[in-house]
Amino acid sequence: MPDSPAIFSIHAVATEHVLPLRSSILLDNETDPCRFRGDDDPTTLHLAVYQGDTIIAVSTVCREALPRPGARSNTAWRLRGVAVQPHARGFGFGRTLMKLCCDHARRHGGGLAWCTARETARGFYEALGFASASPPFKLPSRGDLLFYEMHYVLPGGSIAGTD
Ligand SMILES: CC(C)(COP(=O)(O)OP(=O)(O)OC[C@H]1O[C@@H](n2cnc3c(N)ncnc32)[C@H](O)[C@@H]1OP(=O)(O)O)[C@@H](O)C(=O)NCCC(=O)NCCS
Repeated sequence: MPDSPAIFSIHAVATEHVLPLRSSILLDNETDPCRFRGDDDPTTLHLAVYQGDTIIAVSTVCREALPRPGARSNTAWRLRGVAVQPHARGFGFGRTLMKLCCDHARRHGGGLAWCTARETARGFYEALGFASASPPFKLPSRGDLLFYEMHYVLPGGSIAGTD
């Protein structure tokens, strides 16, 4: 259980607030900022869960086309950088962040949420209703991990309408 006082709040925050936790958890304690294309787009949403003054979980969602040749970013939104401090895992923070990110995408006309999930997080996305849309693959930057492209059709959306 996270340390008391168990007072949590979730806020939309500026990019720089999600970078430390994103880097330390997703880049294995790398101190260089882990920046994504789209981080500073005006429609991108960064969320942070605070316990008191401390950020214990972060996530980002941005408009980004599926990684297909010639694809245009239209109704596809990419979930990125979801990271929960180890002591706070298993309490629903990840699920809540993903729900809020998908709601944001939907409000902006999104039809599909997608992500590149590392193998260890695949079950998390499956628990949220995502389905694998690719065989496992490796990224040049993380040859030590296997990833899956995963999709979730947003309410009222469709894969057919997504490029
Ligand atoms: C993956 C991660 C974000 C999950 O966050 P969390 O707050 O612990 O997740 P939640 O408590 O909201 O869990 C939601 C559901 O997913 C399931 N789940 C969570 N992590 C899981 C995992 N690694 N494997 C399988 N299922 C998982 C939970 O059991 C829960 O299912 P339920 O609601 O049916 O009981 C967190 O473990 C984390 O930060 N991991 C390291 C960073 C990472 O891998 N990020 C994803 C990069 S692609």
